[in-house]
Amino acid sequence: MTRRQASSPLDRPLERLLSSREVVIACGPGGVGKTTTAAAIAATMSVRSAAKVLVLTVDPARRLADALGVEGIGNTATLVPAAAFAAAGVRQKGQLWAAMLDTKESWDALVRRHAPDASTAARIFANPIYQNVTGRFAQSHEYIAMERLYEIHAEGAYDLVVVDTPPTRDALDFLDAPGRMADFFGSGLLRWLVAPSRSRLVSLASRPFYQVADRILGTQFLGDVAEFFLLFQSMYDGFVTRARSVGALLGEARTTFMLVTTLETVPSLEATRFAAALAERQLHLGLLVVNKVLPASFADPAAVAVAESLQGDPVGIAGALLAALPDGLAGASRVQVARVLEEVGRSFASVGLVASRQAELLAEMSGAHEVTATVPHLAADVVDLRGLLEIGRHVLDGTGT
Ligand SMILES: Nc1ncnc2c1ncn2[C@@H]1O[C@H](COP(=O)(O)OP(=O)(O)O)[C@@H](O)[C@H]1O
Ligand SMILES: [Mg+2]
Repeated sequence: MTRRQASSPLDRPLERLLSSREVVIACGPGGVGKTTTAAAIAATMSVRSAAKVLVLTVDPARRLADALGVEGIGNTATLVPAAAFAAAGVRQKGQLWAAMLDTKESWDALVRRHAPDASTAARIFANPIYQNVTGRFAQSHEYIAMERLYEIHAEGAYDLVVVDTPPTRDALDFLDAPGRMADFFGSGLLRWLVAPSRSRLVSLASRPFYQVADRILGTQFLGDVAEFFLLFQSMYDGFVTRARSVGALLGEARTTFMLVTTLETVPSLEATRFAAALAERQLHLGLLVVNKVLPASFADPAAVAVAESLQGDPVGIAGALLAALPDGLAGASRVQVARVLEEVGRSFASVGLVASRQAELLAEMSGAHEVTATVPHLAADVVDLRGLLEIGRHVLDGTGT
């Protein structure tokens, strides 16, 4: 019989959860640390389990991309060398692969797959409307992130895929993106536009609005629109089926969501709404990560009382402090020292206030979620493996149930 050690992964619910899942989707409001946390848990899992882990990042900060070696390589996954982990002081049991989402390349791959032949694909690529749609079409980015995930998952080359999600106006956008894409390509609107194809557009083109549109947008515009829809017509069915499968993957038993947020007002409200939306769609929220949390010691009432007393008699305290300070500072006047003390006291008291509000909100949020992990606000940006592993440790080990 094997004896279970205190530090066994079985005691860490999140590590256990991640070992049993194939897809983790990091989601949440913008700027809260989704990309960082996704990369962090992928890196940490590659150290702790003998798994082949992929992190699919979206717009990582440049220095983080450099650290993962994904700068400028588009959709191709690269192996983060074990030597990089050794340099960060750890030995991996598994492997970490990293890729960056390339929206255009992913759209092109999708077209290549669904186009009836190579020449149709080539004409679609050359069509300016296609170039616009893939670049700017609302939800193109959200959809394609899910599409890439589906593709990678279907290839089955990894034990665990951690996906970062694009910064969206609304964090819910990407959840609905596959459904909307299916609706868009399956909609009567498109079929109406192309049937009886050109003549409909030509008759539209004779109306004053379209004449003006054509003049403004260039004489080619309507022709390009007509060609775009005609060419896409050959791919509708493939697209619709595909978008439905992509949507279904989100709800599979092997997929879980990691909701990342900070305790600031707007992100925390958005995160709460997002959690409700996941529940409504019966999608599995495996983990809530509360990032950039202020240390609880800031809210310690005794410390806050000290901060307040610094503002009470700063000149008196300054005198005592000056006497204790090194000689080099003897040139400072009591008034100068008092000013510094007062400001330090004021700043600490206001950070303390934020920290105690955060503590209340955190208690409320973790009460509502099964698994919550908190990550402290680190002193510096997270730009290398060392930083990622530190975040990963907080997430995986600091988990409370
Ligand atoms: N716990 C943390 N402590 C300090 N800085 C952090 C922490 N988490 C993330 N950051 C920094 O915050 C910034 C935003 O993080 P990022 O992961 O890009 O957010 P998102 O992907 O949600 O937009 C980055 O500069 C990152 O290094
Ligand atoms: Mg990001």
